[in-house]
Amino acid sequence: MARIVSDPKFQSTQLGFPATFSGLWPDDVAGQRSEGPSPTLGELLKHVGDTRGDQEADPRALEFTDLSLNQRALPFILSFNNLSYSVKVRRKITFSGLFSGKKDIEAAGPEGLNKFTETKTLLNDISGEARDGEILAVLGASGSGKSTLIDALANRIARGSLKGSITLNGERLEERLLKVISAYVMQDDLLFPMLTVEETLMFSAEFRLPRTLSKSKKRARVQALIDQLGLRAAAKTIIGDEGHRGVSGGERRRVSIGIDIVHDPILLFLDEPTSGLDSTSAFMVVKVLQRIAQSGSIVIMSVHQPSYRILGLLDRLIFLSRGQTVYSGPPLKLPDFFSEFGHAMPESENRTEFALDLIRELEGTPGGIKALVEFNKQWQKAYPPQASPTRQGLSLKDAISASISRGKLVSGKPETDSSSMSSSSSAMATFANPFWTEMWVLTRRSALNIRRTPELFLIRLGAVVVTGFILATIFWKLDHSPKGVQERLGFFAFAMSTTFYTCADALPVFLQERYIFMRETAYNAYRRSSYVLSNSVVAVPALVLLSGAFAASTFWAVGLGGGTSGFFFFFLIIFASFWAGSSFVTFLSGVVSHVMLGYTVVVAILAYFLLFSGFFINRDRIPAYWIWFHYLSLVKYPYEAVLQNEFNDPTICFSRGTQVFDNTPLGAMTPAMKTMFLRLLSGSIGRNVTESTCVTSGVDILREQGITQLGKWECLWVTIAWGFFFRILFYFSLLLGSKNKRR
Ligand SMILES: Nc1ncnc2c1ncn2[C@@H]1O[C@H](COP(=O)(O)OP(=O)(O)O)[C@@H](O)[C@H]1O
Ligand SMILES: [Mg+2]
Repeated sequence: MARIVSDPKFQSTQLGFPATFSGLWPDDVAGQRSEGPSPTLGELLKHVGDTRGDQEADPRALEFTDLSLNQRALPFILSFNNLSYSVKVRRKITFSGLFSGKKDIEAAGPEGLNKFTETKTLLNDISGEARDGEILAVLGASGSGKSTLIDALANRIARGSLKGSITLNGERLEERLLKVISAYVMQDDLLFPMLTVEETLMFSAEFRLPRTLSKSKKRARVQALIDQLGLRAAAKTIIGDEGHRGVSGGERRRVSIGIDIVHDPILLFLDEPTSGLDSTSAFMVVKVLQRIAQSGSIVIMSVHQPSYRILGLLDRLIFLSRGQTVYSGPPLKLPDFFSEFGHAMPESENRTEFALDLIRELEGTPGGIKALVEFNKQWQKAYPPQASPTRQGLSLKDAISASISRGKLVSGKPETDSSSMSSSSSAMATFANPFWTEMWVLTRRSALNIRRTPELFLIRLGAVVVTGFILATIFWKLDHSPKGVQERLGFFAFAMSTTFYTCADALPVFLQERYIFMRETAYNAYRRSSYVLSNSVVAVPALVLLSGAFAASTFWAVGLGGGTSGFFFFFLIIFASFWAGSSFVTFLSGVVSHVMLGYTVVVAILAYFLLFSGFFINRDRIPAYWIWFHYLSLVKYPYEAVLQNEFNDPTICFSRGTQVFDNTPLGAMTPAMKTMFLRLLSGSIGRNVTESTCVTSGVDILREQGITQLGKWECLWVTIAWGFFFRILFYFSLLLGSKNKRR
C-alpha cells in the first residue's frame, strides 16, 4: 500500500484540522499523523468505523466529517468561465425561405451557412464559481438551460462542442479524474424495485468502495449513510414500483442520491433533485445535500422552483433565462438586485417566485431579457464576488490527497506520492474493484432480483409449459407413416421457433436494467465486461429449467425417437436455442431503446429466421441471392439438429410398401387395389417391392430436406456459438451505445 500523505505539507497542523481528526480517527492514528510517517490510505481506512462500536454507537463516527466551515482547509473551487454551447437544429423549410434563397443565407450569418440548419444557443457565455461547503443552485423556468448547464459542468457534453473553460482549483480536469471524484444524480430514479433500501445502498458500496475496505466497514458506511439520508425507518423496505408498494417518492430520491455519494465524491451534480416531491420531502433532500456539502463537497444542482425554506439552504444561485445568466449571487442579494433593476420585491413574496415571474414577463417583452442580462453584468462588476479566503496555494493534487486522507472519496486508490499533477489522476484507480469482485457482486445482485421476482420466471415457465402441453396434445404419439413424418417436421419447426419467441419475453426486463446499467457505468461503478459476463451467467440456470420443462413435456408425448440419448440431445438443443435466443434478445436490448420497437424487431426477424430455416423451403430451392440469410437464420441450426436426432436412426422406416400412395390421390384406393398397384409397379421397375419393403428411411428424409451439410453435434455447437457471438455484440453495443454524452 502506497503512502498518500508523506508530504510534510499534510501534517495535520498545516492542514488546519488538528482537533478534528481525533473525532474521526482513533487517537493512535491522529497521534501518528503529527510525528513520524503519515499513515497510508489503507491504514486510515482500517480505522474507518472503529470508533463506531456496534449498531447503537454514535452514527456520526462514520458520517461525513462534521467539520465546521472555518476549520476546513481543503479548498475546492470549481470555476467555469464563458461557457457556451449550441446545437444545430433543422430548420423548417418554408416556401418563402426557398425563394428568398440567397438573402436568407446572408441573413443567417457566418455560422448559419447551411440554409436548412440553424444554430440554437443553449448556453450563452455563462460564468460562475462553486465552492466546497456550499450548494450552488441553478434556477430558471423549464427550458431555460438548467440541465444543459449541469451537463456541461459534469462533463456530459462532448469536449469539442462546449466552449469556455471549467477548472477545479485552477487546473483543467481530466475526464478520468473527474469520473473518480464526481457523481451525477439523474432526474429519474433508476433503481431495482425489488431490492430494499439497505441492499441497494450496500450493493452500491460494494461497487464503489475499494476492496481494501472490509465488508464490515462497508456495512458500517452504509448504516451511517442511511442515518445521514434519514432513511432509517425505510431501511428494510423495498424500493417498489407500480406493482409493488415500496418507499415514498422522497425516500426513493434520497436513495438515488445515496447510491451516488456512497464513496463521498468531491463534486456532486444533481439535476432537479427536488422536482416531483412534496415540500417537506424536497426540504429534507436539500438538507441532506447541505450536509454533504458541509462535509467538504461541492454540490451543484438545478431547482425548478425552490420553496422559501429551501432557499435558505442555498448558498449561491445562478438564474438562467434562455441560456443566459440573469442573476448570479447569494439568495440574500436577490431583493437588492431587483430593486436596483427597478423592480422592487414586495416583502411578502417568495423571492424566487417573484424573480421567475419577472423573468418570464421580461422574456415576453422585446429586449427585456437583454436589459436584465446587461444589468447583471454591470452588477457583477460593481459587486465582484469575494475572493476566496486564503486557501490558495494547495494544488489540486494536494487538495485531493488531503481530502482522501480525511476519509473522503474512499473509492480512490492512491498509489504513489510523486508530486506531478498527472499522478493525481493515475493515482486513482479507474475502478474500485477487480473484475472478479465486480462479477461476483453483479451476479449476486441479479440472483437476488430474480429471487424477489419469481413471477417473471414463472410466467416464462408457464408460457413454455403451456406451449409444450398444446404441442403434446396436438402431436400426440405421432406414427412413422408419411403423414407422421410431415407432422414431425411441422412440430420441429414450430417447437424450435417457439423457443426463440419465448425469449422475447425477457426484452422489457433487459431494457429496464439497461438504464440502471448506464447510470452505474457512467461513473465507473464497474466494468462493462463484467456486467456482460455476469448477465450471461445469471441467465443460464433459468434457461436450463425452461428447456428441461419443454423437452420433458413434449419428447415422449410426441413420441420422438432416439431413446434416452435422443432425449438428452433434444434437451441440449433446446437449451442451446434458448441460449442463442436470449443472447439475441439481450443484444437487441442493447441496440434498441424502446420496448415496442424491440418487440417489432424481434418478431419480424424471428419470422424471417423461420422462413429461411429450411422448413418452408429447402436450401437448394432458396434463390442464390438469399442464401446468405439461410445461413444467418438462427432457427436453421437447431431445426436441422433435431431432424437429424429424429431421422438418423437406420432401423426405423418411415414409409413401407403401400404407404407410398399416402398423401397422393391414389391413397384413396382400397388396400387390395394398393397391393395390386404395388405389385404392378415393382414388376415394371424390376425390383421386388412388397408390403414390408422400406421405401423411405430417415436418411432419405434428411436428404430430401436438404440436411446434408452439418452433423447434429455441429449444429448444436453452431447454435451455442451464435449465443456467444451475440453476447460479444452486446458488449460492443454497450461500449459504443452508452457514451452518455451530448454532442
Ligand atoms: N439537442 C437539442 N436540440 C435542440 N434543442 C435542445 C436540445 N437539447 C436541449 N434543447 C433545448 O434547450 C433548452 C434548454 O434545455 P434544458 O437544459 O433541458 O432546460 P431545463 O433543464 O432548464 O428545463 C430547451 O429549450 C430545450 O428544448
Ligand atoms: Mg431540465
